[in-house]
Amino acid sequence: MVKNKNNTAIWNTRIKNNTSSLFQKIGSSIDIDKKLYKEDIKGSIVHVEMLYKQKIISFKIKNKIVYGLNKIEKEILKNKFEFNKKHEDIHMSIEKRLSQIIGDDAGYIHTARSRNDQVITDFKIWIKSASKNINNNLNQTIKVTLKLAEKNIQTIMPGFTHLKNAQPLSFGHYLMAYVEMLNRDKKRFLNNMQSLNENPLGVSALVGTSFNIDRNYTTKKLGFKNPTNNSIDTVSDRDFVLDYLYNCSVCSMHISRIAEDLIIWNSDAFNLITLTDKVVTGSSIMPQKKNPDLLEFLRGKTGTIYGNFFSMLTILKGLPLSYFKDLQDDKEIIFKSTEVLNNCLKILIEILNNLNPNKKRMLELANSGYITATDLAEHLVKNYAMPFRQAYQKTAAIVNLAEKKKKRLNELTIQELKRIEPKLKNDVVKIFDLKNSVNSKKSYGGTAFDNIKKMIIKYKKEL
Ligand code: ARG
Repeated sequence: MVKNKNNTAIWNTRIKNNTSSLFQKIGSSIDIDKKLYKEDIKGSIVHVEMLYKQKIISFKIKNKIVYGLNKIEKEILKNKFEFNKKHEDIHMSIEKRLSQIIGDDAGYIHTARSRNDQVITDFKIWIKSASKNINNNLNQTIKVTLKLAEKNIQTIMPGFTHLKNAQPLSFGHYLMAYVEMLNRDKKRFLNNMQSLNENPLGVSALVGTSFNIDRNYTTKKLGFKNPTNNSIDTVSDRDFVLDYLYNCSVCSMHISRIAEDLIIWNSDAFNLITLTDKVVTGSSIMPQKKNPDLLEFLRGKTGTIYGNFFSMLTILKGLPLSYFKDLQDDKEIIFKSTEVLNNCLKILIEILNNLNPNKKRMLELANSGYITATDLAEHLVKNYAMPFRQAYQKTAAIVNLAEKKKKRLNELTIQELKRIEPKLKNDVVKIFDLKNSVNSKKSYGGTAFDNIKKMIIKYKKEL
């Protein structure tokens, strides 16, 4: 460990180290924001290069600072950097260490900037790369979902509304609904890029600076698109944090809904899917149990992610403009949500890779609950020039009859059917065929097999 020669806080000229030691310990964010060291060093190097280009600092000082910062980065990477709570946060810690390495010239680093713009600069760069990382994990999730969908285009299962059998559909089509959800999540993270690409560096504490700085230069060098417009708004704004947390929340909600589907289908009552041993856990007392704990973990973690979003909304509510310590918590919240969401996506991938549909059981369940009743109503409209409402009523009467006779629709004889609708002919039997029903939904976005194939191809190309 590199020892701190001068172990006092940077602002100790006015505040004679009287800040409560308890608060120094508890209020310090170094344990959290040390994650930002790379972004902080990069931001500082670009900042001093700009100061030199603008003739605000000399070539020699610029080089000294860059040398010191590079040395610090190596120390951190090699775990040789002492993170001291006394120095509050990553920005102060690095500046302090810089002064130990290069002496008083380190003091030039903070010319024309404040921690207020510095921290948002670091944070935006971090969130941009975290968003890309989440989108990579979303791509992986989409990939395994597509693979499973491709194998199950012809797998018939009941489609539910209100968890009651509604209309038959392809399991592949159902999985492609997940692809749509995950793809929207990707877009949502991309939509936040516009705000994340606005460079805060150079607004300084809250009013800008009297130094002749070049914000366009730092914008370009740090990979932003343009500088922010208003100095006060810049240091106060955490909308990009909220947007990110909202995006995490929606994505997590999607994961939770997928998890809940799979929990229901995995239940003994439904038994529509089987999870391999890799993604279940046992019970400490009931020897027979194989529990879908991983799915329940996914559903539960949504609570943490929603909670974080709400924490941030609440921190911002009623906060006057410009910087306040309240804002410091944004990082812990974002780091936690990011970690949880990435873990959830990785676990979801494992589950999708270890899930098998019970095709026989899916078909059997799809054959109950008069699931082709809507097909029959549509058959009547198409073939016998009947208004849909009238066809609906005829079909309801046929369902009532089947229920009374304790038969499925396809077990009713043509005589029984004709008693309710005399026009019906023998060809009606194909209407009760599940595959025929599924494949008849050829409208764009419907569950017909060719539609699913085309969608799978479209998404495979996009990845
Ligand atoms: N650690 C602080 C934070 O994350 C950095 C900004 C401090 N600014 C200040 N005026 N105290 O919010």
